[in-house]
Amino acid sequence: MYNGIIQELSGINKDDIVKIVLSKSKSEVKKTTIRPILLKSGRKWQTEKIKNNQAFHSNIEYNDLENHLLSLLEEYGFSEIYFILKGKTISYRVSKKKKLFRNEHETEVKGNIVFSHDVPKKYILEEGVQIPPLVDLGIFDGNFRVKKSMYDKYKQINRFVEIIADEFKDYDKDELTIVEFGCGKSYLTFIIYYYFAFIKKINVKITGFDLKDEVVKHCNAVAGKYNYKNIRFITGDISKIETCQEHTDMIITLHACDTATDYALYFAIKNKIKYIFSVPCCQHEVNKQISNKNEFSILLRHGLYKERFSAILTDAIRCEVLQDHGYEVDVVEFVDFENTPKNAMIRAKLKDKHVPPRDNVHLKKLVNEFNINPTILRLINN
Ligand SMILES: C[S@@+](CC[C@H](N)C(=O)[O-])C[C@H]1O[C@@H](n2cnc3c(N)ncnc32)[C@H](O)[C@@H]1O
Repeated sequence: MYNGIIQELSGINKDDIVKIVLSKSKSEVKKTTIRPILLKSGRKWQTEKIKNNQAFHSNIEYNDLENHLLSLLEEYGFSEIYFILKGKTISYRVSKKKKLFRNEHETEVKGNIVFSHDVPKKYILEEGVQIPPLVDLGIFDGNFRVKKSMYDKYKQINRFVEIIADEFKDYDKDELTIVEFGCGKSYLTFIIYYYFAFIKKINVKITGFDLKDEVVKHCNAVAGKYNYKNIRFITGDISKIETCQEHTDMIITLHACDTATDYALYFAIKNKIKYIFSVPCCQHEVNKQISNKNEFSILLRHGLYKERFSAILTDAIRCEVLQDHGYEVDVVEFVDFENTPKNAMIRAKLKDKHVPPRDNVHLKKLVNEFNINPTILRLINN
């Protein structure tokens, strides 16, 4: 059954392969990724197998790719296979009746293919690093090992802080003030504090807001226990907090529910906050409002597509509004889908705080077409 895939792989220029992803297996190996790497001994393929939420790596010779792929497919019976190439993705799906379906679409790959070995792994939150609050918060066990049940959250906060660290690698000021909205148990808040206070040695101040008084009390107690003086948690509703009491450089959100993300972005726009790192959560608002009587009604015919389309529309509008207010915006998949399906991060940086908001004719047409009035626009237009 897999012969067609292997045959196609033989015809592909290996220099064009960014990665090969194998997923949907009933075996204990749920996902496998193969990437090119450059070692002292030359080019190889690195295989990463995900088994019981743990990653296992091995390398094979550059010429052995076809044999290696075939043995992985046969051993684990993956039913989704993706060849992610420079400029296009070829995917295969194996149906229940063992029929193979092939698809191909163009994709954009920026820059050259990065060999994994070229990029130093920079886990800021390595297992074993002693960050005591993360034991209290339940991410690490008493030996500073990641708890199995917290692996996905661990990946998320690790990537989140890495992306921020990347932006701040040349930061030359010695102070930084951050507000996190919807901080919940505040794993992210503590790791970001740890990064700036102990690794970058910046005088960082962080305030976390959340609706839940009990988690806020707990987080304040953990901060007090370890004498983290410049981190504090406040019980508050984002929709009611409009101004900063002190200068704020950055806002962050990680899965702040539904429209809470809109209030956080609005807060940033209103207070002209320079940096935004925001991973939205579930979006219900637009899904409830959306309708279309024209050709776009096709997009809304099936509940699942309607829900997904509404979510994309919501986030695209958020990005557009940020751009209209002087922000440079990009969106990145900050972790794999399997870590969380809510894996898109909006990164925004205020480029010019003095330009008047752009009158966005296209955005107006878009919201009229779909009869929607999302919170971010309502707030901005108030
Ligand atoms: C899904 S949890 C995420 C928590 C945390 N950021 C994380 O990733 O682990 C969402 C959090 O947002 C908080 N939240 C939702 N709406 C809020 C609002 N209007 N104001 C403040 N917090 C809110 C909830 O109480 C909850 O703790």
